[in-house]
Amino acid sequence: MPWPIHRPRRLRDNPIIREMVRETKLSAEDLIYPLFVILGANQKKSIPSLPGQFHLSADQAALAAESFYRQGGRAVLLFGLPDHKDEFGRSGAEVSGPVPMAIRAIKERVPDILVITDVCLCGYASHGHCGVVEDNRVQNDPTLDLLGQQAMIYAAVGADMVAPSDMMDGRVEVIRKYLDKAGHQRIPIMAYSVKYASSFYGPFREAADSTPSFGDRRGYQMDPANRLEARYEVELDLAEGADIIMVKPAGPYLDIVREIRNLIDRPLAAYQVSGEMAMIKAAAAVGALDLKGAALESLMGIKRAGADLIVTYLAPEVLDWL
Ligand code: PBG
Repeated sequence: MPWPIHRPRRLRDNPIIREMVRETKLSAEDLIYPLFVILGANQKKSIPSLPGQFHLSADQAALAAESFYRQGGRAVLLFGLPDHKDEFGRSGAEVSGPVPMAIRAIKERVPDILVITDVCLCGYASHGHCGVVEDNRVQNDPTLDLLGQQAMIYAAVGADMVAPSDMMDGRVEVIRKYLDKAGHQRIPIMAYSVKYASSFYGPFREAADSTPSFGDRRGYQMDPANRLEARYEVELDLAEGADIIMVKPAGPYLDIVREIRNLIDRPLAAYQVSGEMAMIKAAAAVGALDLKGAALESLMGIKRAGADLIVTYLAPEVLDWL
């Protein structure tokens, strides 16, 4: 009979012991903070769908990055909103576009912060899809060069890492080739390898103005029902040269985070997406949840499931609490 010899509560009573035996810890360097950048100067407009987040011009993005860095934050992830869009999302690869402008401003003000850039067409394409549309379908192969060019431009102006989120097949290999050819062999790729066709991206699409104008993303993002396919996607991206693997969303897919953690020996990131944050914030706003407690618990769950890095809009608040 285990009891009364065994009493797990012995290690719970004293707060110091509790901390000593804590298995999972959240720290500042685990967190990646997304920023939405726009053109212009001195612009900081709150984003209605994403409470606490802003559309920031380059100078304001630099200030936000600086304040995050002072808090102990170490990495930001940039999403751009251009002032013009075409069918091919070409404004994503313009040196005077919102992301390159923000990279320069951030690097000038906070040279040591790590600047990661999302790579995708959806925010820059008139149709809002993540790839080139022909015959009413998102075409895989014609998209790859456009992604490669985007990644190459970002690296050229000073991005430290690129993060393709489009879910086209073969994009990691093509982006790697573009980077290497331009002399950016040292720039890592964090691949959104396991990205589900999720309803939890709603607030982000409003924030990034990237809602598809027709259809949905199920022709390229993963079916939420699939687990084995996640393993396949990760194996392919590692073979193509991905340096960090990402699972997205995080909270509703903790089993997948654990699955991939057990599969690979490479660093694993998970993205606590806009809808996950919106749920927590909305519940806290009506007094149903304690914001700090629920937010930290949600992130702890993602780490415990096996993520090394977490992309989260809550990053600055979390650093205040830690
Ligand atoms: C773009 C992209 C999306 C997100 C990150 N990159 C949206 C989408 O695929 O529709 C979602 C992030 C979030 O919801 O916080 N491909």
